[in-house]
Amino acid sequence: MKVARTITEIRAAVADARAAGAKRVGLVPTMGALHDGHFSLIDAAGRDCDFVVVSIFVNPTQFGPEEDLDEYPRTLEVDLAACESRGVGAVFAPSVEEIYPKGALATVHVAGLSEVLCGAHRPGHFDGVCTVVAKLFDIVAPDVAYFGAKDYQQAMIIRRMVRDLDMPPRIEVCPTIREADGLAISSRNARLSERERAEAPALIESLRLAERMVAAGETNAGRITQAMRRLLAEKAPQGKIDYVEIVDPEGLGSVEGIQEPVVAALAVRLPSARLIDNLALTPPADKRVQ
Ligand code: PAJ
Repeated sequence: MKVARTITEIRAAVADARAAGAKRVGLVPTMGALHDGHFSLIDAAGRDCDFVVVSIFVNPTQFGPEEDLDEYPRTLEVDLAACESRGVGAVFAPSVEEIYPKGALATVHVAGLSEVLCGAHRPGHFDGVCTVVAKLFDIVAPDVAYFGAKDYQQAMIIRRMVRDLDMPPRIEVCPTIREADGLAISSRNARLSERERAEAPALIESLRLAERMVAAGETNAGRITQAMRRLLAEKAPQGKIDYVEIVDPEGLGSVEGIQEPVVAALAVRLPSARLIDNLALTPPADKRVQ
């Protein structure tokens, strides 16, 4: 496995792999502290592609001034061993200076989609994500890039960026990997106190409540989000809700009457970490618009 620190090195590693016959190159962009959620993307890339590149870069431009950039876990040695054992062809682990040369002015902004849900609470966050992902696509030139449904809004924004800017990679969105009690795996879970960890499954419980309500024929999104908020207040009393919303799966606009598949999404701030989760909800056939 090649470990590349510079743009020149990773481009050479990918060029070598292609010259040696690799037809399909897969990219898994990450910020490291790799866990089972990341591994599921790496494994999906390994199944589909001849050469897998994992990028490990804690991207400063997607963190707000009050956010946890400095405390973000950095575990490069362990991550490299995990990548090696999973058959990754190359890891790209650049420095901040390598990715953001002094005086860089260009950014990528996906209007609208970046301002709702998490975007409303993290101004500029998705511009940071899009800019670094666009750069990674240009640097690595993958055929396929893998993202997790755990960060649903991020995946939809990247899809839109690729579509609108004619970027070559195909975007694969892989299912959310969860702990046994349903909590979506995240490197931020490690920060939770015992009491917070006990409250954290309330996120998925509220999403599953929404799923049951929709399956039982409820079409009023307001009633569903109200029930979700009640469950959160009861089961995660330390949590402050950033948002609980039911949105259209592609445009991410709020939905009032559920006649088509939708996505329920929420963000809750526990004292030690902000958690997000989402679930696709499909109304029963007789409630759908034909
Ligand atoms: P990071 O949080 O490290 O996540 C990297 C990828 O792993 C993302 O596509 C994310 O959705 C996916 N992922 C995280 N937890 C997951 C889980 N429990 N199940 C399935 N997939 C999961 O997301 C980022 O980094 C950054 O914003 C990045 C795209 C790398 C740009 O900096």
